[in-house]
This record gives sequence, C-alpha cells and structure tokens, in this order.
Amino acid sequence: MAFENVLIEKRGRIAIVTINRPDKLNALNVATRKEILAAFEQLKTDDEVRVVVITGAGEKSFIAGADINEFAGMTAIKQRYVMKGGRAFDSVEDFPKPVIAMINGFALGGGCELAMSCDIRIASTKAKLGQPEIKLGIIPGGGGTQRMTRLIGEGKAMELILTGDMISAEEARQLGLVNHVFAPEELEAKTMELANRIAELSPVALAMAKASVKNASRTNLREGLDSEIDLFALCFSSEDKEEGVRAFIEKRKADFKGR
Ligand code: COA
Repeated sequence: MAFENVLIEKRGRIAIVTINRPDKLNALNVATRKEILAAFEQLKTDDEVRVVVITGAGEKSFIAGADINEFAGMTAIKQRYVMKGGRAFDSVEDFPKPVIAMINGFALGGGCELAMSCDIRIASTKAKLGQPEIKLGIIPGGGGTQRMTRLIGEGKAMELILTGDMISAEEARQLGLVNHVFAPEELEAKTMELANRIAELSPVALAMAKASVKNASRTNLREGLDSEIDLFALCFSSEDKEEGVRAFIEKRKADFKGR
C-alpha cells in the first residue's frame, strides 16, 4: 500500500513511523488512521524490524488530535464506524513488538491517545499533552478515558479530561504520562538510543513481556499471574532463551535471533 500521510523509515532494526501532515499539525483524518493501521500491519510481519518509533512531522506537533474539519456534519453512525471499523490505536497497543512514542510537540486528543497506546513515551520539553475534546462538546473516543485512567489513575485523568487542559511535558512526566523528557535537539538521539537498546533483546521475550504487562489491566490478578507463568514458560521453548542463558554463562553478549 502506498501511503500519503504516513512515512516509514527503517534504520537498522528500528522502524520510524512519521505522521506527515505538518500543515495540519499532523491531525488524524480518517485516511491517516487507515494508513496507521496498514503501516503497523506491514511492520508486524517484517522480521528486520524489532522496535517501532512513532512521531509527527515538523517542529511543532506530534499529533494535534482528530481532524476537527471531518467532525463538522459527521453523523453518529459514521463516526462510530470510523472508530470501531479500523481500530488503529488498538493495533498499536496489540502490536507484538515494542512501540515508542517520540512526542516532539502537541499530543492532543487522538495524539495523546495514540501516545498512550504505545509502550513507552519520550517527550521533548516543547511537548504539550492533553485531551481537549470536552471543549468541543465531545469526549475522548480513542481510548483516552480508559488508557489515561489506567496509566495515571482516576483522579488525575478525570481532571485532565473534564477540564481539557494542556499540560507541559514535565508535568506529564511527573504524572507518569510520559517516561522521559529531553531537550528538542536531544529527543531523537535519546529515543533511538533507547530503541536500539531494546532492539538488541530477544524479540520473543519482548513480545511475551509486552503481552503480560498488558494483561495486568485486562484481567484480574489471579488470571494475570497464571497467564504470566504460561508466557514465562513459553519463553523456554525459544532458541533465544538458550542463547541468552548460554551467553550469560560464557560471559559474552547474547545474539538473539527472534526464534
Ligand atoms: N484538526 C484539524 N486541523 C487542525 C487541528 C485539528 N485537530 N489542529 C490544528 N489544525 C490545523 C489548524 O486548523 C491550522 O490549519 P490552517 O493553517 O489551515 O488554518 C493548522 O493546523 C495550524 O494550527 P493553528 O491552530 O494555527 O496553530 P496554533 O499554534 O495557533 O495552535 C493548537 C495549536 C494545537 C493549540 C491548535 O491548533 C488546536 O487547539 N488544535 C486543536 C486541538 C484539539 O482540540 N484536538 C482534539 C481534537 S478531538
């Protein structure tokens, strides 16, 4: 599939997915949501890619939310179809490899929701985050009320969602909404450094670890613990486990093949 609003660049084991509508601050129109879904579908089966970094084009914005122009005149039925038909953010959350949001500017509405669907969030000091939907007379519809509540707790999520306030990257870090904050000129290098470090680990174990952490908010504790044992045990069927253990014993760096 040829993409119009999404760029995919591969740097070694890392794929960088850039939402590319800088004139519109990378607002997510329906076409871009479909492209995100297709891009992740493509990267899922690309064995060269071990970690994905997602970011926004231009200096100013990660993603400034859903494309508000498309809301004008949109019917309830059509909007429901857009959100339920192609669940782009869920595909990022369920993607079997680590996904890092590199938040270079505004991460508002769907932008904040997409970032929260990722596994790790790294922000520039210039970034601003929030769920401003309430100011448009609507509510977050791409997981904002659910993922933010799980990520930072109900009290803090409620305040951000009810006010629609934007917060700074540093405030977001204090809330646990982003993991790290760096100066804009350092953002890419620091993000790539982390991505490369993760990309050297076993893809099998990374997929199991991600699935198991996700289970923590999807099931109760007993089911989560049971499932963790199963996923842990499943790692023992991989060549990567043999390689990791052997490398430790032989005091050398492991060379994981993802098998
Ligand atoms: N949907 C559609 N277009 C958007 C957009 C969105 N969510 N966010 C920004 N844009 C467009 C603007 O309309 C403008 O286009 P134009 O040049 O054709 O008029 C362009 O991007 C630049 O944005 P602008 O508002 O001029 O930049 P700014 O620096 O003054 O303000 C924001 C930046 C992010 C504060 C402001 O654009 C904004 O509030 N955007 C909407 C955020 C939002 O509510 N998102 C949730 C949607 S559910």
